[in-house]
Amino acid sequence: MLDIKITKNPQPQAKPEGDLGFGRSFTDHMFLMDYTEGIGWHDPRIVPYGDLSLSPASMVFHYGQEMFEGMKAYKGQDGEIYLFRPEMNGKRANTTNERLCIPQLPVSDFVQAVQSLVSIDRDWVPSDPGTSLYIRPFIIATEPFLGVSPAKNFLFAIIMSPSGLYLMSGLKAVGIWVEDDYVRAVRGGVGFAKTGGNYVAGLIAQEKAQKEGYAQVLWLDGIERKYIEEVGSMNIFFKIDGKVVTPALSGSILSGITRDSVMTLCRDWGFVVEERPLSIDEVVAAHRAGTLEEVFGTGTAAVITPVGTLRYRDEVMTIADGGIGSLSGKLYDTVTGIQRGELEDKHSWRVLV
Ligand code: COI
Repeated sequence: MLDIKITKNPQPQAKPEGDLGFGRSFTDHMFLMDYTEGIGWHDPRIVPYGDLSLSPASMVFHYGQEMFEGMKAYKGQDGEIYLFRPEMNGKRANTTNERLCIPQLPVSDFVQAVQSLVSIDRDWVPSDPGTSLYIRPFIIATEPFLGVSPAKNFLFAIIMSPSGLYLMSGLKAVGIWVEDDYVRAVRGGVGFAKTGGNYVAGLIAQEKAQKEGYAQVLWLDGIERKYIEEVGSMNIFFKIDGKVVTPALSGSILSGITRDSVMTLCRDWGFVVEERPLSIDEVVAAHRAGTLEEVFGTGTAAVITPVGTLRYRDEVMTIADGGIGSLSGKLYDTVTGIQRGELEDKHSWRVLV
């Protein structure tokens, strides 16, 4: 159990109004905790949100030793505040930490830190449909050293941002560009870890996709450029001939918490759910045969994002008439309904703050 020291912000900020966008404004407080080799994690504290002071030699600036997580707090119709499966974020954080030589953080401490910070800034959780308080825990290497080796000092921080949906306003279908030139990750690399390097590697393709009028990139595997992996900020699902198919966790794909929840819900509803290698050729063939019924992305930030158009080379595939398929719509309503305390939570995913 952490003994968290709390310093209240003497100058609380005005809350943003209107369309919140994503990740642009921040709450009054942040959580910080240091790690020092030989001592371990120490000095957990909640302090006013503000700039950090770091040595320019901090190793994170040079070799990118950093990890992050993404989670949300929701305001229920009952006025309560809920988290969604926070232990899964804590466990995934440690999977990332292990790969990146960042010290492990007890899952219970991770969840306690999130709970305490949300509790202090609970007035910041927005209540309009589609909005939530996005929570961004992250760890950076702070040791001032230019040699390439695992750092000896780290900072664990949590910041929070009242946000709307990531890719759209309202539940609208997006266009996705299938990238077959640049790749995001390879097996044995860090593709399964939540770390900035995976995202910076994708920026150039994202810019290319956006110039062509597409919202995000769908990545193919790094070796054959044939098997579907994931989208820039979400996992991806296909409904083909009545079955729900998503790429298996091959080592280069992020193990999404919404992905896991969606597979469970689909199985509850009697769908056959297949986690397996899925080639882009199979998707194109299904589209040509008229059996590609729906495509949707899943993610904490993206929730359920229907894909209306997929572009692969010169082939533009319109899915579900470019709108919202019935499964995507039902999943969106169910996932957000459980998160907000409006629907029965039979898997005990919701956690009260
Ligand atoms: C999330 O869904 O929480 C993510 O981390 C996606 C983010 C890159 C916007």
